[in-house]
Amino acid sequence: MILVTGGAGFIGSNFVFDWLAATDEGIVNVDALTYAGNLRNLASILADRRHVFVRADICDGARMSSLLKEHQPRAIVHLAAESHVDRSILGPDAFLQTNVVGTFRLLEASRAYWGELGQDARAAFRFLHVSTDEVFGSLGPDDPAFSETTPYQPNSPYSASKAASDHFVRTYYHTYGLPVLTTNCSNNYGPFQFPEKLIPLLIVRALAGQPLPVYGDGLNVRDWLYVGDHCSAIRAVLEHGRPGETYNIGGANERANIEIVRTVCGLLDTLAPSTDGPYERLIGFVKDRPGHDRRYAIDSRKVESALNWRPAETLESGLRKTVAWYLANQPWVAAVQDGSYRAWIDRHYGSTDGGAQ
Ligand code: NAD
Ligand code: TYD
Repeated sequence: MILVTGGAGFIGSNFVFDWLAATDEGIVNVDALTYAGNLRNLASILADRRHVFVRADICDGARMSSLLKEHQPRAIVHLAAESHVDRSILGPDAFLQTNVVGTFRLLEASRAYWGELGQDARAAFRFLHVSTDEVFGSLGPDDPAFSETTPYQPNSPYSASKAASDHFVRTYYHTYGLPVLTTNCSNNYGPFQFPEKLIPLLIVRALAGQPLPVYGDGLNVRDWLYVGDHCSAIRAVLEHGRPGETYNIGGANERANIEIVRTVCGLLDTLAPSTDGPYERLIGFVKDRPGHDRRYAIDSRKVESALNWRPAETLESGLRKTVAWYLANQPWVAAVQDGSYRAWIDRHYGSTDGGAQ
């Protein structure tokens, strides 16, 4: 049995599906169901006996301790977080609370639980912390990609809160010996991503005939990875990573934002043509994000050589799959947009957890 946090969010729900497709080992899914958590993502597996959903807040240390005692996981995969940079600029408090305090409480609960395990279980236990490349700050056009030894230089409240959590995770290895692993991954895209992030936002707004807002000059660069490839990397690090080490994960797909916008428009022109003309007509440049990091790029050589991990999707194949998924899942999109997914969560909540709110 493993325990995952944030498994009703974008990467978390993809990870739960990926896990259940790869193994019969059970998974306890702990998620507070904030605006970003959507139980509807998990609708097809809510009756699967290998998956147990628990609505709980990682900041509740006593609850985390009792869940660990009850389910006795051999590993924790920690994804729960506030994850959107623009929201962190408008309201940093929740980022400090969940990303820093929540991770700290989970570490404390894990340390206590792990300390009580027998010798073999203690040695086998893993705490895998899922982090981001944004902790490394911003690259110039000719700088080498971020490696595991690049110094941390966070520039947004989001990346500062993730950096702080990474530091706490590190200390639990060095100070207490807790077998931790950290992954720092680049921008993900794929099914179930909340349409506040660039790629789903573009798809959803384009289909609604709304303007496509490109921040600044559109030349900020991100290194895109299909979410399924991130999930396979997390599994590889969990099974074969060395405690105390960090692993950078990326798709070697550096693209300027404007290129991504044009590619998504082109895919939509093919898959869902508009009678009003090409979707590029909707592109509009808007005021830049404050502190907008110019360029991210990941050097994945360590995870590739040490753990033999490779992404399965190219950016082209992954984007095509993603656009097709959003087109085929319009009811999911509509429920997220009109807020009715919250009502769906409330209706189904009683059957998924008898415990705390
Ligand atoms: P998301 O916002 O889609 O999902 C976050 C999930 O965490 C939601 O289900 C939410 O309900 C849950 N959550 C939030 N606060 C909680 C709390 N206090 N207690 C319990 N659950 C809580 O995020 P995502 O994009 O799936 O990202 C998952 C993780 O991966 C995050 O740690 C993020 O920093 C990291 N990451 C994301 C990306 C990316 O491109 N999306 C890239 C690299 C790393
Ligand atoms: P985002 O998906 O928010 O991820 P992150 O900020 O974590 O990289 O944004 C990806 C890039 O797209 C980033 O450079 C900001 C830019 N962007 C826009 O140009 N317009 C938008 O509406 C959004 C949401 C993002």
